[in-house]
Amino acid sequence: MSPSIRQIHPVFVGEVSAIDIGKPLTPDEVAALEAGMDRYAVLVFHDQKLTDEQQMALSRNFGALEDARGGNITKPEDRRLQTGMNDVSNLGRDGQPMARESRVRLFNLGNMLWHSDSSFRATPAKYSLLSARVVNPAGGNTEFADMRAAYDTLDGATKAQIEDLICEHSLMYSRGSLGMQDYSDEERAMFRPVRQRLVRTHPVTGRKSLYLSSHAGGIVGMPMPEARILLKDLTEHATQPKFVYVHQWRVWDLVMWDNRQMMHRVRRYDESQPRDMRRTTVAGNAATAAQV
Ligand SMILES: [Fe+2]
Repeated sequence: MSPSIRQIHPVFVGEVSAIDIGKPLTPDEVAALEAGMDRYAVLVFHDQKLTDEQQMALSRNFGALEDARGGNITKPEDRRLQTGMNDVSNLGRDGQPMARESRVRLFNLGNMLWHSDSSFRATPAKYSLLSARVVNPAGGNTEFADMRAAYDTLDGATKAQIEDLICEHSLMYSRGSLGMQDYSDEERAMFRPVRQRLVRTHPVTGRKSLYLSSHAGGIVGMPMPEARILLKDLTEHATQPKFVYVHQWRVWDLVMWDNRQMMHRVRRYDESQPRDMRRTTVAGNAATAAQV
């Protein structure tokens, strides 16, 4: 039996039923989910009680897991989860909510800015899969913006202007916009800007999309203030409510999205209470632009 997918937003997002994603998937099921991702770009599953091992096995159906190194400031000895799992909770290794002044917590607040996962890597992520293990009692919705719809609705002059532009992305740009400017030499080297195309073309559907992210802080060949104004304008256009789906989490939901076609952000929540969300990330297979 193949999974059934029902569109739950006027523009994108499919809700998937009739599948147990904790079990090994058949080739037909994998093909149906890939086709669903190409079409809807976000897939929502309910009541999927997964272990970390099951979540990693599920993710590997769609490509290799991304190496998480270089994506945060958490020291290896402070990690709560095993290699292969991205910890996007508010919890420390002791399982308790991190202290207000914790630098890791403050850095992770950057997830509340619109972004595409790993756009700060030379080869950015393909899919992310996020599993809700403990849902916060107040807030913490995740919002998704369809960057294909955003591109489609630009005027012709803007499309022509941005077609070949190359942006520079770094975690220091997104965190810098929150006032975090102090990094060690090692962190500066790790967060060195990478280059990404501003307009991407989906390898299967051929649809174009805007490749925006709060990690984008400059455009090659353009004065920085001019670049930032253009990026802000495009982001404002791309995140209009009509292009945005708001996911209200239930425990054991799993949401899977295509970072090549989507931006997302988490909304504020009660940080005195746990929010245990675990992500796996499927690596992309090509750079979007040549690096220098
Ligand atoms: Fe993210």
